[in-house]
Amino acid sequence: HMLDEPPEGFPEPLNPTNFKEELSKGLHIIDFYSPYCPHCKHLAPVWMETWEEFKEESKTLNITFSQVNCIESADLCGDENIEYFPEIRLYNPSGYIKSFTETPRTKESLIAFARRESMDPNNLDTDLDSAKSESQYLEGFDFLELIAGKATRPHLVSFWPTKDMKNSDDSLEFKNCDKCHEFQRTWKIISRQLAVDDINTGHVNCESNPTICEELGFGDLVKITNHRADREPKVALVLPNKTSNNLFDYPNGYSAKSDGYVDFARRTFTNS
Ligand SMILES: *[C@@H]1O[C@H](CO)[C@@H](O)[C@H](O)[C@H]1NC(C)=O
Repeated sequence: HMLDEPPEGFPEPLNPTNFKEELSKGLHIIDFYSPYCPHCKHLAPVWMETWEEFKEESKTLNITFSQVNCIESADLCGDENIEYFPEIRLYNPSGYIKSFTETPRTKESLIAFARRESMDPNNLDTDLDSAKSESQYLEGFDFLELIAGKATRPHLVSFWPTKDMKNSDDSLEFKNCDKCHEFQRTWKIISRQLAVDDINTGHVNCESNPTICEELGFGDLVKITNHRADREPKVALVLPNKTSNNLFDYPNGYSAKSDGYVDFARRTFTNS
């Protein structure tokens, strides 16, 4: 059955006054919505049922389903860079981690997401939140030097649809790239893990380096060609001390998890 009315105990939306304090209590999956958007209205009963079904497990797993009404709390949604409604996001006490982008949005998929994320130790690693990315800002010239074989260490390089990202932790707006914000955190994890192996990381702004990105086949990061928000950062490894066959695209699809990228960099370097 579908709920029309909020179930007993269903919480009020979070607001600017209690948002930070509530976040400090654990992980939260937050539905940023407008009461007027059709997709939000469609989600509302699903959200209430999800909350109801999950409320006991919520306490054991320390992850809570919450909401923010972006019409009542417009400044809060602005500060959080909410770009569309409804946007469902995972937060830890330090802030945004990633978005939930699966469709259709069902009770089952939301609960599966909550269970999965509650088990990921990176999500409550507050040392990580205060740590900085090790990734170096690469101008087009720097990247061309790498592929010309001038580097002495391997470099795992990420490519982004922006011209403004000096530090890969910078808080920015990315156009038509739902995955970009979450991948900033992933990229920080990757950069810190690879630093231990003496593998450097760097990032390239594709809007400032259209030729490089187009030649690599990352033309979609240079300009917006459709209305969809499905652009994703790309990753490639450059091996040192070689002038040809030294560039390897990350062969698996996009992931918000660091492991695949870290393994790829280590393995490709070791095998060379
Ligand atoms: C839930 O997580 C928060 C934030 O990390 C922590 O302070 C709190 O002790 C946790 N609560 C439980 C019941 O595990």
